[in-house]
Amino acid sequence: MFSWQAMAMLKTAAKALKQLQRKEVVNLRDGRTVWIRPIQAADALPIAGTFHLLHEDEIRRRFLHPVKALSDDYLMRLTQPDPETDFVVIAAEPFEPGAALVGAVARLSSDDNGGRAEFGILVSHFVSGQGLGKILMRRLIEWCKHKQIRHLWGDVLNDNHAMLKLAESLGFVRESRHTTPGITRIVLTI
Ligand SMILES: CC(C)(COP(=O)(O)OP(=O)(O)OC[C@H]1O[C@@H](n2cnc3c(N)ncnc32)[C@H](O)[C@@H]1OP(=O)(O)O)[C@@H](O)C(=O)NCCC(=O)NCCS
Repeated sequence: MFSWQAMAMLKTAAKALKQLQRKEVVNLRDGRTVWIRPIQAADALPIAGTFHLLHEDEIRRRFLHPVKALSDDYLMRLTQPDPETDFVVIAAEPFEPGAALVGAVARLSSDDNGGRAEFGILVSHFVSGQGLGKILMRRLIEWCKHKQIRHLWGDVLNDNHAMLKLAESLGFVRESRHTTPGITRIVLTI
């Protein structure tokens, strides 16, 4: 039997989930409007179709190695994330999923025991330098708070000053005991 207290807790959890899944309208400095929203399966086609428009360098910074195209398997996992462990938020044109081009993607994946999550982010050069990186990273941090994930981490190329600066402004620190040549591991304690 439901108690009033249990009902109230369910209501609060549903409200928090709705907040995480909200669509946010953002007006960019260059006059364009984008929607910040969780990814949907229908976003797979526009993402795959425009991948070749990205610069080699931004792909290498995101994946830490060159990538020519996104595999079907990768696209499926990206656009249909497991709601228990993964979260993907995007900045897209203000149209329905499938019709909208996607300008930026931020993703996190939590580990098996749920205490830590790894992030990856790519804000394409079409919309970079307008605050989207910060907005998307904040949405990932919000999700971690909701799921009680204590550590959000990512691997960043040592010369990726934009990401290192962005992360620093959000409170990330460099993890000194992680030593892969050319890569800095950054971590935020939440
Ligand atoms: C790094 C990246 C996510 C930044 O996204 P963005 O939307 O351009 O960043 P924002 O506009 O939100 O900038 C936020 C802060 O980051 C820093 N920053 C962003 N671009 C910068 C640049 N080119 N040089 C130095 N600092 C920069 C600044 O501190 C900036 O704050 P400010 O605008 O108040 O100065 C984006 O350039 C990108 O996706 N790069 C390729 C992929 C990648 O590097 N991924 C990270 C590893 S997973």
